Parts: sequence; C-alpha cells; structure tokens
Amino acid sequence: MKTTTTIAAVVTTVIGLALGITAVQAGDPLKAPTEPITIAGKKPVEFDHAVHRELGVACAACHHDEGHNPRTAEDIAALADRAALQCASCHNDEFANPKLQGRKDIFHANCRECHKAGFNDKKGPTGCNDCHTKKKRKAIEGC
Ligand code: HEC
Ligand code: HEC
Ligand code: HEC
Ligand code: HEC
Repeated sequence: MKTTTTIAAVVTTVIGLALGITAVQAGDPLKAPTEPITIAGKKPVEFDHAVHRELGVACAACHHDEGHNPRTAEDIAALADRAALQCASCHNDEFANPKLQGRKDIFHANCRECHKAGFNDKKGPTGCNDCHTKKKRKAIEGC
C-alpha cells in the first residue's frame, strides 16, 4: 500500500514538473539578450544590449511599435514573438516613408546619431570599423 502511494506521488510530481517546465518555456517573456547579438545584413554589426543597459538607455530608444509608440520592457515581455522586434519587419521596401526603408538609413539614424550626440555625457563610436567589425572584439575576448 505504502509503496503504491509513494509511486503515485512520485509519478504525479514528475508529470507536474514536466508540465510545469513546458508551460514556463512556452510563455517565457521576451527579455533583452544578455549576450551580444549580431545585427545581420551586408555589413553585420555586433550589438551588446548589456553595454547600453548599463548606460541607462531605455528599450524605447530603439524599440517602437507600428504607430511609432515607444516599447517598454513590459511591452516587449508581453510580445508573443521576437519577430515583432525585427526592425526590418516594418522597415522594408513597403514602409510608407521611403527615407526609412533601408537598413543603413534606419540603423545609422538610430545608432550613429546617438553616438554622435552622446548620452549622459558619453559619446559612442562613430567610425565605420568601430561598428562594422567583429574581429577586434573577438581578439579582445580571447585574451
Ligand atoms: C554606430 C554603429 C555604426 C557605425 C558607426 C556605422 N554603421 Fe553602417 N550600419 C550599422 C548597422 C547596425 C547596420 C545594419 C547591419 C546591416 O544591414 O548589415 C549598418 C548597415 C550599413 C550598410 C548596409 C546597408 C544595406 O542596406 O545593406 C552599409 C553599406 C554601411 N552600414 C556602411 C557604413 C559606413 C561606410 C560607415 C562609416 C561612414 C558606417 N556604416 C558606420 C551601424 C553602424
Ligand atoms: C540601443 C538600441 C537598443 C536598446 C536600448 C534595446 N534594444 Fe533590443 N534590440 C535592438 C536591436 C537593433 C535588435 C535586433 C533587431 C533586428 O535584428 O532587426 C534588438 C533585439 C532585441 C530582442 C530580440 C533578440 C533576438 O535574439 O532576436 C529582444 C528580446 C530585445 N531586443 C529586447 C530588448 C529589451 C527588453 C530592451 C530594454 C531593456 C532592449 N531590447 C533595448 C536594439 C536595442
Ligand atoms: C512595428 C513596426 C516597426 C518596427 C518593428 C520598427 N519600427 Fe522604426 N518606425 C516605425 C514607424 C511607424 C516609424 C515612424 C515613421 C515616420 O514617422 O515616418 C518609425 C520610425 C523610425 C525611425 C525614425 C524616427 C526616429 O525614431 O528616429 C528610425 C530611426 C527607426 N524607426 C528605427 C528603427 C529600428 C532601429 C528598429 C529596430 C530596433 C525599428 N525602427 C523597428 C515602425 C517600426
Ligand atoms: C541612446 C544612445 C545610443 C543608441 C541609440 C545606441 N548607442 Fe551604442 N553606445 C552609446 C554610448 C554612449 C556608447 C559608449 C559607451 C561607453 O563608452 O561606455 C555606446 C557604445 C557602443 C559600442 C561600443 C561598445 C561595445 O559594445 O563594444 C557599440 C559597438 C555600439 N554602441 C553599437 C550600437 C548599435 C549597433 C546601435 C544601434 C542598434 C547603438 N549602439 C545604439 C549610445 C547609444
């Protein structure tokens, strides 16, 4: 009797855990990546959320919705799919404003303009190779 009860309890716990873990994975809220990501394209750029978070740059400095309303961390967490955050999901050949269709246009306007103007008294890199290189950064990480 005792053994049967114990086995039943163990089985229930294992099933519960399995279901619990699945549920957590399915509904995992989107968060800023902790590791650098690669912004892919003809001239790829390695971009580190953590560097910008430490500076105090808000999510909404870069992320907005179809009405150009700012997206907060909470808005992002509630999104079903990270594809909604891909800049090119809106900024493509069909985008209403022709000046905001190209990758160079939107990324340079967003990234480079802030680096030039500065944020909290800190300027960011503006040289082409400061952003368009991964070799230098890999070498540093490898030391
Ligand atoms: C602050 C970072 C930053 C700096 C500085 C920067 N870029 Fe970029 N650039 C980007 C990002 C991000 C992209 C998007 C990645 C992609 O499309 O390959 C991009 C895209 C591009 C593209 C691809 C355009 C396309 O439509 O495929 C070209 C070409 C380019 N940059 C040239 C330059 C040149 C030349 C300079 C220097 C005068 C420069 N960039 C400086 C961030 C930067
Ligand atoms: C300085 C600009 C900037 C800031 C600030 C920023 N992001 Fe991002 N984020 C990006 C770019 C650029 C991408 C890549 C978009 C693309 O590939 O088209 C991205 C991608 C993401 C992704 C998808 C990652 C993946 O692997 O596909 C998530 C999730 C995300 N950001 C969450 C956040 C959250 C949450 C915050 C605020 C805490 C934040 N971001 C702040 C620029 C930024
Ligand atoms: C859900 C659709 C959507 C996504 C995703 C999106 N944008 Fe936009 N973006 C817009 C709209 C709408 C405007 C306003 C257009 C106008 O005023 O003509 C805009 C305007 C801009 C502008 C010009 C105004 C400004 O804020 O300086 C830049 C630069 C820009 N977006 C960059 C980005 C970048 C970088 C990403 C990815 C991190 C991104 N956008 C993702 C819809 C989007
Ligand atoms: C709101 C202002 C702001 C925006 C928007 C912004 N940056 Fe930056 N970024 C900075 C500042 C300031 C620094 C310098 C940080 C320091 O010196 O500690 C920096 C540093 C960097 C660096 C050098 C540090 C590192 O990660 O190796 C890279 C590369 C970079 N940014 C890429 C980007 C790209 C790509 C984008 C657009 C997707 C972007 N930044 C958007 C302000 C910004």
